[in-house]
Amino acid sequence: MTIIVTGGAGFIGSNFIFHMLNKYPDYRIICLDCLTYAGNLSTLEPVMDNPNFRFVKESITDRAAVEKLFEEEHPDMVVNFAAESHVDRSIENPQVFLDTNIIGTSVLMDACRKYGIKRYHQVSTDEVYGDLPLDRPDMFFTETTPIHTSSPYSSSKAGADLLVLAYHRTYGLPVSISRCSNNYGPYHFPEKLIPLMIINALHDKPLPVYGEGLNVRDWLYVEDHCKAIDLVIHNGRVGEVYNIGGHNEMRNIDIVKLICKELGKPESLITYVTDRKGHDMRYAIDPTKIHDELGWLPETKFADGIKKTIKWYLDNESWWEPIVSGEYQNYYEKMYANR
Ligand code: NAD
Ligand code: DAU
Repeated sequence: MTIIVTGGAGFIGSNFIFHMLNKYPDYRIICLDCLTYAGNLSTLEPVMDNPNFRFVKESITDRAAVEKLFEEEHPDMVVNFAAESHVDRSIENPQVFLDTNIIGTSVLMDACRKYGIKRYHQVSTDEVYGDLPLDRPDMFFTETTPIHTSSPYSSSKAGADLLVLAYHRTYGLPVSISRCSNNYGPYHFPEKLIPLMIINALHDKPLPVYGEGLNVRDWLYVEDHCKAIDLVIHNGRVGEVYNIGGHNEMRNIDIVKLICKELGKPESLITYVTDRKGHDMRYAIDPTKIHDELGWLPETKFADGIKKTIKWYLDNESWWEPIVSGEYQNYYEKMYANR
């Protein structure tokens, strides 16, 4: 089995590559990643010498490069993690989100059509469903919840999902889609809530909570997401969407307070800042379908996962320090200075 994993130098893609190489020692895994600001080759260092692993630095929007790779490797599957993934950046500059998330997806699927494929899997997000009201805890996203996006990021992901389903219906491409809730764990890029708060707290810097911090996200440990995708690509039905989430809803403010407590830092570091434009209130996944059809259940409880994650950032400063001391500083200044 040969699998092209796109975006494998990022947060979830790298965790997925580690999971797959470990679980299926006879699989060949090719990581296709153009190394944007969010891609980090040092993350993949532990597998670089593995003879069943190959890294290719190209963009999924580059048709010639993608076709060349298909001609060389004859993949059985493509799992597409490659994306621009940060909502705040999409509000500043939507264009690259459309290029990578929509055009890139179509380029990959065109290559799958041209050369043949057993499975094209699209890694999507619960954000395509928009948000849920805070006062309706009985409501959850199911696979039939209408697409109703809020940000340029989620709109680009929704556009890609629609294309994937269209390629299935029109060309019979054997596709699947998974829509996961918020992930956390090792190698999470420092711009996102949990690593940002851990790293700022370690530096005794202000912890910038958007609005009143009452927005709710449904957090899942990244390994549980990787195991779910593994199940979907092997046993999930072609043409289907699978929601992934572990019923772990938390308010942002409670996460930030928990991080302060775990690190022994004062809550006085918390600073309420101007809210994100179009900020989704609540995400909450109903994972019944993937549980009933594929037997998936999350294995890591949040109380344990967050401790493991904080420990990972404490033990791996050599991974995040070069990131936060480089170009990221300009990003942080631009996004947070006048908030
Ligand atoms: P990330 O930003 O950490 O990593 C994205 C990776 O894609 C980087 O390595 C980057 O270099 C690469 N990339 C970007 N543009 C590319 C291009 N044109 N060609 C090749 N590679 C390119 O993202 P992540 O958080 O790991 O998310 C991975 C996927 O999972 C995304 O599709 C995202 O929408 C989805 N997702 C993320 C979450 C989450 O909580 N992080 C939840 C649900 C779904
Ligand atoms: O739900 C899945 C999505 O989760 C993925 O599709 C996205 O790729 C991923 O980035 C994530 O999106 P969010 O916008 O939910 O994640 P983020 O970490 O940016 O923010 C989480 C919450 O924390 C959100 O309500 C905004 C808030 N926040 C975030 C940052 C960076 C803050 O209050 N302060 C901050 O500095």
